[in-house]
Amino acid sequence: MICLGIESTAHTFGVGIVAQDGTILANQKMVFVPPKGGIHPREAAEHHEKNAQTVFQQALEEARLKIQKIDIIAFSQGPGLGPCLRIGAVISRYLSQKLKIPIFGVNHCIAHVEIGRLFHNLKISDLLTLYVSGGNTLICAFDQGRYRVFGETLDISIGNLLDVFAREAGLPHPGGPKIEKLAQAGQKFIELPYIVKGMDLSYSGLLTASINKFKEGNKLEDMCFSLQEIAFSMLTEVTERALAHTEKKCVLLTGGVAANKRLEAMIRIIAEEHDAQFYNVPPALAGDNGAMIAWTGLLHAKNENSLSMDETRVKPNWRIDEVKVTWGA
Ligand code: ATP
Ligand code: FE2
Repeated sequence: MICLGIESTAHTFGVGIVAQDGTILANQKMVFVPPKGGIHPREAAEHHEKNAQTVFQQALEEARLKIQKIDIIAFSQGPGLGPCLRIGAVISRYLSQKLKIPIFGVNHCIAHVEIGRLFHNLKISDLLTLYVSGGNTLICAFDQGRYRVFGETLDISIGNLLDVFAREAGLPHPGGPKIEKLAQAGQKFIELPYIVKGMDLSYSGLLTASINKFKEGNKLEDMCFSLQEIAFSMLTEVTERALAHTEKKCVLLTGGVAANKRLEAMIRIIAEEHDAQFYNVPPALAGDNGAMIAWTGLLHAKNENSLSMDETRVKPNWRIDEVKVTWGA
């Protein structure tokens, strides 16, 4: 069985083609870069609509497959930006009907976990995942048929914190990699608010304080260094507590922010302290991509019926713990 997966939750329009045994036959994408400021959902959706055909063709070429060889379609049904999600859904419905093949809706957050699990060949019950990106900040683990949330942000995501601070400091988008680079030259630690509430964290106060301290004249390198130390320590604290509680054997770091070496080092230390193996997902699979959607579609197809057209409506606020994980032990 071969699945074609479509990703379109935010900046990325991706098409992946994956075989039943987990072989990734193709993983193509185009990423919308806003001309200035943050992402405008409608502009990103227009970008996806304009480039869908090209990405789709590139994926079929990479896989050296004719479209008739595709057995099932999967698409990112949520969470994400409504206008962007709808582009992926419309194309998926069209393909499903034209090719007369089943269609499955995939939860984007689950797909991030599952592609990491596939890449490292990990057991679902062994795993605690820290998923950090432009839209999400989530600590989750499988328990009794679902991915349960052990901690999350109460307001903005870690990626958003980094990108908005970067923008205010005059750095180009995406801000995360630039902040990482500048932080290496930081020497002075500047006090900033550290906000962890129970198992959850809050970044909006840290963002405001960081912008203010930068405008007060602190050096950008010192600001980047301090911002990273505080924001990542908050993530590390919550992840460590979730690990102590769940006693999982593996920690998986994924999402676009997983590319950050300082964050990786901090999470690796707590994993080792709790005798857990640390795993990072390589950037091509950690950022948004179509292969993770295709692979998760195949997992759904194992034990579930495909969706009716009515059931393919997009779910912009779909939480990871609402989904029944039918392939879990
Ligand atoms: P999602 O839809 O899952 O929320 P996304 O659309 O934000 O994802 P990703 O590619 O997963 O896309 O993540 C992008 C984020 O990753 C941006 O906020 C970017 O600044 C951040 N990022 C990328 N590289 C680094 C890095 N080296 N250090 C910190 N942040 C990084
Ligand atoms: Fe994502």
